[in-house]
Amino acid sequence: MTGFTLKNGILHADNVSLIDIAREYGTPSYVYSASVIRGQYNALKDAMAKALPADRQPLLCYACKANTNIAILKLLQTLGSGLEIVSEGELRKGLTAGFTGEQIISTSIGKVGPEIKACLEAEIHQLNIESVPELYHVNDVAGEMGKKAKVVFRLNPNVHAGGHHKISTGRKRDKFGLSARRIMEIYKIADDLDHVEPVGLSMHIGSQVSKVEAFKPAFEILSSMVQELRAEGHSVDRLDIGGGFPIRYQDEKLMDLTEYANWVRDIVLPLDTEIQMEPGRYMVGNSGVLLSENIYTKQTGERDFLVLDAGMNDLIRPTLYEAYHNITPVTHFDRPQHDYDVVGPICESGDTFGESRTLPEVHDGDLIAIHSAGAYGFSMASNYNSRPLPPEIMVDGDKVSIIRQRQGFSDIMKGENIPDWLK
Ligand code: LLP
Repeated sequence: MTGFTLKNGILHADNVSLIDIAREYGTPSYVYSASVIRGQYNALKDAMAKALPADRQPLLCYACKANTNIAILKLLQTLGSGLEIVSEGELRKGLTAGFTGEQIISTSIGKVGPEIKACLEAEIHQLNIESVPELYHVNDVAGEMGKKAKVVFRLNPNVHAGGHHKISTGRKRDKFGLSARRIMEIYKIADDLDHVEPVGLSMHIGSQVSKVEAFKPAFEILSSMVQELRAEGHSVDRLDIGGGFPIRYQDEKLMDLTEYANWVRDIVLPLDTEIQMEPGRYMVGNSGVLLSENIYTKQTGERDFLVLDAGMNDLIRPTLYEAYHNITPVTHFDRPQHDYDVVGPICESGDTFGESRTLPEVHDGDLIAIHSAGAYGFSMASNYNSRPLPPEIMVDGDKVSIIRQRQGFSDIMKGENIPDWLK
């Protein structure tokens, strides 16, 4: 069995009971199913393999901001994935996991000098550029190193693809990308610089894109841009068509991968470029749960609260984006249904995982799973309230391994210092 399913009334990750995991590693903990990640990667790869000729397969670059655990990176690397990074930290993690420079694309919007240098030293595939000052900066660093950096420019197609406004990126008013007019200008500027070589365009219209049909017009805009650039004599050899595929948190409509692959075949393929993709959430989102214990059931007369040992520092999505995550118990699914607000222990009212959730009655000490937490869960966790970060555990069939230890209190004080004049 793969993923999170019930066996004998107990929630399992693949073949391993979450009760056993909680007993061994404690709570709160992130638990991932490797087989779910493998399934997601292969489904996308297969859809592209069916739609596109063998010699035109895309470079699938996992956007690792979704989950940067090195074991997860390794799993994707062994499957043949490439990597999209946004910082020197992600670059170093990717190299540690075994990705070669050639498999890595850097897309950050505010690249700093050391990061550009590290990318060029690692000879990554390309740097995606989002502004003229950034282009000059890359040119300067590459010049100092005696190199020529391959760059692509991110087009802002001005499409509204839905999803939460904090994770929409392809509208004119967003900070991302360059308008069509500016793309023409930046290509001209780049042609006159000695240490950058413009090789194409990139695009990413948003994350958890709810209007999946928006990918099609966005590809069409990209296609006209390529034709305009070529008409001016510029070469466009690579197109990075982004990520953003939705996953199911509640009842969202999923993207039909075959339909998407056919849009790529019909609109992008004829442009005769290398094709690149950068999905993050799609690969890992449904592979993980945040496993937690209900410390107390608190009745205020007004509401009944489940107070968990996991808090918004462990999973910030519900409070930051009003994101819905399914919440279930791990056992006792046959108890009578009851209405709860599910909250964490942190001193903020925003520390709420779900309001008015109907669950089988939950007792103190019962385990709770917060689902679809594999993407932007641990990677956005913090030490707020001086809470140590939870461990991460990977399951694959019958195998279980801890892939990141729970932080200790010495870890969270590391690097802090009381000045002599205060002692
Ligand atoms: N490429 C670029 C340039 C991006 O900015 C992103 C995500 C991705 C790819 C991957 O997008 P995905 O396939 O995962 O949708 N923290 C938010 C999501 C922020 C996404 C930021 N950029 C959340 O928890 O929903």
